[in-house]
Amino acid sequence: VEQYSTVRALREAVQSARRAGKAVGFVPTMGYLHAGHLALCAAARRENEFVVTSIFVNPLQFAPNEDFDRYPRDLVRDLGMLQTAGVDAVFTPSVTEMYPEATQTVVSVPALSQTLEGKTRPTHFQGVATVVLKLLQIVRPDTVYFGQKDGQQVAVVRRLVRDLSVPVTVRVVPTVREPDGLALSSRNVYLEGADRIRARRLSQSLSQARSLLEAGERSGPTVQAELERLLTEDPDIRLDYAAVVNADTLVPLSHIAGPTMLAVAAYVGPARLLDNLMLDVSERAVRDLLPPL
Ligand code: PAF
Repeated sequence: VEQYSTVRALREAVQSARRAGKAVGFVPTMGYLHAGHLALCAAARRENEFVVTSIFVNPLQFAPNEDFDRYPRDLVRDLGMLQTAGVDAVFTPSVTEMYPEATQTVVSVPALSQTLEGKTRPTHFQGVATVVLKLLQIVRPDTVYFGQKDGQQVAVVRRLVRDLSVPVTVRVVPTVREPDGLALSSRNVYLEGADRIRARRLSQSLSQARSLLEAGERSGPTVQAELERLLTEDPDIRLDYAAVVNADTLVPLSHIAGPTMLAVAAYVGPARLLDNLMLDVSERAVRDLLPPL
């Protein structure tokens, strides 16, 4: 894998791939890679002749009180994993390469950004939307890959791509889980001992909520209350939210139908964890919204 740390060098590499007629797939990341990122790289590898990954811990999406400084980083390990994954180019800009001056221009998708995560992280998605558009302008891929785990981020990115007519296809790849169900996240390194075991409860609650839907329940408030009850059964889990929303608009559903996201966020020890299920719900059936890989 070739490493490029300037916008100019990365653009030249992508341009020469493009001149050779190669389709370009792009996987934006903040590094500290795990099997979830590798699933995105594998999808990109299958569907494109030239695969670019970026590793950039984007300060714009962290609030001053958040974990920007202690966000886990291990570039040497990441490069080894990308090499094994068959990625062609990795873009590793510094903060000053990406933001030589404090950025004036920002991208915001207000309705999708203020709900769920936005209640505790009011500036987060503006930072995500801004860096994603900027990375898409730098790389200019045909297809960009995101993980389902950050479900609200998926909704925000899809909307910004539609609203601003960005010429890219957005592909969403199902969440990769530990054997006990815990969704993979770089922040899982903050979990130790009893907290790691406790963290299972997020995915377990979501599975139980799915079973309720499969048994015919279609009331959003009922499913939400059940998620809240299951999560707070453990007094050492501090629930932030449990929500039953339309997967595209993130509007809460009173009657569950169509593209649905069951989303939970909770503090387990020092970690704030997220998980979700994306389902396609009809009167008679409950299916996964995303095709399996
Ligand atoms: O999902 C992430 O890792 C980040 O939010 C992203 C998309 C790389 C933007 O910084």
